[in-house]
Amino acid sequence: MDKLETLKEIMAARRSRYPKDYTGTHISEGELSEILASTENIPNHKKTRPWRFRVFKDEEKMQLARELADLYKKNAGPEQFLEKKYQAMITKPEQSAAIITIVVNFSGLVPEWEEVAATAMAVQNMYLTCTAMDLGCYWSSPKLTEQLGDFLNLEDNQRCIGLFYIGQVN
Ligand SMILES: Cc1cc2nc3c(=O)[nH]c(=O)nc-3n(C[C@H](O)[C@H](O)[C@H](O)COP(=O)(O)O)c2cc1C
Repeated sequence: MDKLETLKEIMAARRSRYPKDYTGTHISEGELSEILASTENIPNHKKTRPWRFRVFKDEEKMQLARELADLYKKNAGPEQFLEKKYQAMITKPEQSAAIITIVVNFSGLVPEWEEVAATAMAVQNMYLTCTAMDLGCYWSSPKLTEQLGDFLNLEDNQRCIGLFYIGQVN
């Protein structure tokens, strides 16, 4: 198959696949390395390389889940709190093999949108790489990610813009 046909096939097959459809099987370090390596060659103005990705798996992944669930509880307050939503914040990471936090590092050298755009291009590469490896994945962007600064030890010029869930699918 020529290069264009291969590219078209992978782009056409790309889909968001959600944790409820993941099998719960682990993915290898090699697979995670491939996914991260796909974020190396991204167009980025003034070569600021603004994307920051951190992989959470095993116990760290569940710490992230508990942090999100706690943030939800705190933000919702007793009036709006829904146990089902709280549990989903734990269950989704449990069902996933790994979660990659998507963070933008704003350099101040170019407009912020350009650095968000470059980071999103890196996420697209992760989507396509997962597709090529028959892994499920999706970009989740709950508003709560804005409050992950302390948990992720982010600097003032960094912002978490989502979570990239990954899991094996049938
Ligand atoms: C920036 C961005 C944020 C997203 N945030 C969410 C989200 O919070 N929850 C969700 O279910 N899907 C989210 N998605 C995935 C979209 O819902 C999904 O791409 C869309 O439904 C189209 O489906 P497809 O990816 O299978 O083509 C996000 C996608 C992008 C690009």
